[in-house]
Amino acid sequence: MTIQTVGVVGCGQMGSGIAEVVARSGYRVIVREVNDALLERGQQRIRASLERAVKKGKLSQADADAVWERLTFTTTLDEMRACDLVIEAIVENKEAKQELFAALDTITPPHAILASNTSSISITAIAAATSEARRPRVLGMHFFNPVPVMPLLELVRGLETAEETLATARAFGESLGKTIIVAKDNPGFIVNLLLVPYLLDAIRWLEYGLATREDIDTGVKLGLNHPMGPYELSDFIGLDTLLFIADAMYDEFRDPRYAAPPLLRRMVAAGHLGRKSGRGFYEYQ
Ligand code: CAA
Repeated sequence: MTIQTVGVVGCGQMGSGIAEVVARSGYRVIVREVNDALLERGQQRIRASLERAVKKGKLSQADADAVWERLTFTTTLDEMRACDLVIEAIVENKEAKQELFAALDTITPPHAILASNTSSISITAIAAATSEARRPRVLGMHFFNPVPVMPLLELVRGLETAEETLATARAFGESLGKTIIVAKDNPGFIVNLLLVPYLLDAIRWLEYGLATREDIDTGVKLGLNHPMGPYELSDFIGLDTLLFIADAMYDEFRDPRYAAPPLLRRMVAAGHLGRKSGRGFYEYQ
């Protein structure tokens, strides 16, 4: 199956990155947000990222203009009727995603693949909101932040995902320049399954008073060559997102490794969500 037009539903941090990368790879992209204010913010994020690429000499001005031409912005979900593939990147809420997938099932042509960028919600549960004929064409496409920089794409095979869907998604992901890994529909998939217990452990050691947050971050960066230490990375991901993934994993496995430490829960309750709120383990202007 050939993919020409791609829909991206949700133009926040992840959706805008996905839309940019897909348009830069030559596809026509239709981006949908729920209102004009959010759409404008998403557009600005993509424009700023393209300008940065031009300034750094990674993209010519003519190519950036061509990318911009391939992007259409809308608040109307019906426009997804032109898409061969729709990638959902809305809020991490199962009911909201199920409602969206049920609507996309009726709007998009029968051949269209519906993908979710969820990091914690079951693909099989999202697919269950669609018709039986669509379910084989539903899968997870989990991108990493920042999408234009991170070379990985994790594909998630739901219980009913067809091999053909997986093969099309793999070819599409490779055409974006990403390296593909495939996981079962399991909370945390592959990367978060390993990452989240590590981040939760780091928060527990901070609660215990092992060392300062700066020393632990420095230890991981210089001792392991990670680009960010655990508290920098938690702030970057968003503490609410981290808590949400941890709770989803704990719900499924009932294993204390995935239980959120009280400090994380208190910080989220206080609105200290990391970079996006200006304060998490560190402060940001
Ligand atoms: N969009 C586009 N390009 C960006 C960017 C963005 N938002 N942020 C940084 N870049 C580019 C820069 O242009 C720069 O490119 P060049 O080297 O070609 O000039 C490069 O990335 C490095 O950026 P900086 O020099 O500005 O900053 P840095 O060296 O501190 O790197 C970083 C920033 C890329 C974010 C790096 O710190 C990093 O890789 N951190 C770890 C990120 C990570 O682990 N992400 C996964 C999170 S988990 C997840 O996403 C899954 C989930 O479900 C929770």
